[in-house]
Amino acid sequence: MADKKDVILSGIRPTGRLHYGNYFGAITHFLRLQEQDVNRFYFVADYHALTTIQERRDISAQTIHMLRTYIACGLDPNESIIYRQSDLPSTAELALLLGMITNIGHLERGTTYKDKLGQIQSDPKQTGNPLSYGLLGYPVLMAADILIVKADIVPVGDDQRQHVEMACDIATKFNSRFGETLHIPKPIARNALRLPGLDGSSKMGKSENNTLDLLDDEKTVLKKVKGVPTTTEPSPLGTDSNTPDDVIPLMPPGVGVLFRLLDLLAPAEVFQEFLQEYRDQGKFYGNLKKSVAQHVSEFNAPIIERFNDPALDDAHIQDILRTNAMKVSPIALDTVEACREAIGIGRSLYRA
Ligand code: TYM
Repeated sequence: MADKKDVILSGIRPTGRLHYGNYFGAITHFLRLQEQDVNRFYFVADYHALTTIQERRDISAQTIHMLRTYIACGLDPNESIIYRQSDLPSTAELALLLGMITNIGHLERGTTYKDKLGQIQSDPKQTGNPLSYGLLGYPVLMAADILIVKADIVPVGDDQRQHVEMACDIATKFNSRFGETLHIPKPIARNALRLPGLDGSSKMGKSENNTLDLLDDEKTVLKKVKGVPTTTEPSPLGTDSNTPDDVIPLMPPGVGVLFRLLDLLAPAEVFQEFLQEYRDQGKFYGNLKKSVAQHVSEFNAPIIERFNDPALDDAHIQDILRTNAMKVSPIALDTVEACREAIGIGRSLYRA
């Protein structure tokens, strides 16, 4: 029998514009996997976006915007099944079933939940979202996304490592209780990226307001890059290694982000030239920022151009979503029905 092709699955929430963390943590892998003989599923996680919703927002328009950016980055809708999470409502049914076997203690150890709890405890008067049932259950819904298409590989950034591990744990528990039903994905790559924020904090993120976005124009890029904190003088690195992964963690945080961006975008010689200047402890931050801003703007330019291509109209994107929802739906229903049978509820009569 021919080997089964690996199934790839990943999602991004439609909460604003795509940033460099999203690109280099996830999308770059989607593009790499586009060259391989695998089955690819990518979705816009609009249900997950609701964990931060405060008031009515046009999530549908944001979803289209996100898809347009996916395509502008080079994701080919003919090569991957790109869909919207809420067009697959059986995901919500699977999440409900998985929720029944998930301990609250397990969910309370989730980093996203703990971070939010920490924020509320440190500032009880803050007007942001309260701790919701949906936020606590975020990893269960994410497990449903992954397990429903029987994913093997989940390309995500390092910040999602714990969520993918939880999906594996939940599936393992389900199988040991009800018999082999769910396909367990592989763990995420050990070297998955966590891109720091432009403010030097540990993670670039939409809610942290510290992002560099793929659709930022030249002026915005320059302003953002100039604002990266570089007040600290270069300090000795304590290593002779010139490898980005060895030296960047030893730099002051703001400087580290600039070098990481160079590492991702510029030719290796440029990185090495600036590294030498760092070692010589000269005054070079102005030039470093100019170079980073230039590479970022050059990277963004073709993406912005494709994003604004009038041929990529909303109707066309809606059409892609409709067709793909129909393609992924039978796979999803198959998983949910298998779980219903395994648990003992039995197959749904209206679907039979
Ligand atoms: P979201 O929208 O927060 O992030 C989308 C993708 O971008 C990656 N990412 C980063 N990678 C490196 N450095 C960063 N600073 C950075 N910021 C974001 C994330 O790791 C992710 O790959 N929960 C998911 C959405 C989701 C999902 C899923 C993903 C819902 N269900 C099932 C995979 C499988 C998320 O955080 O989206």
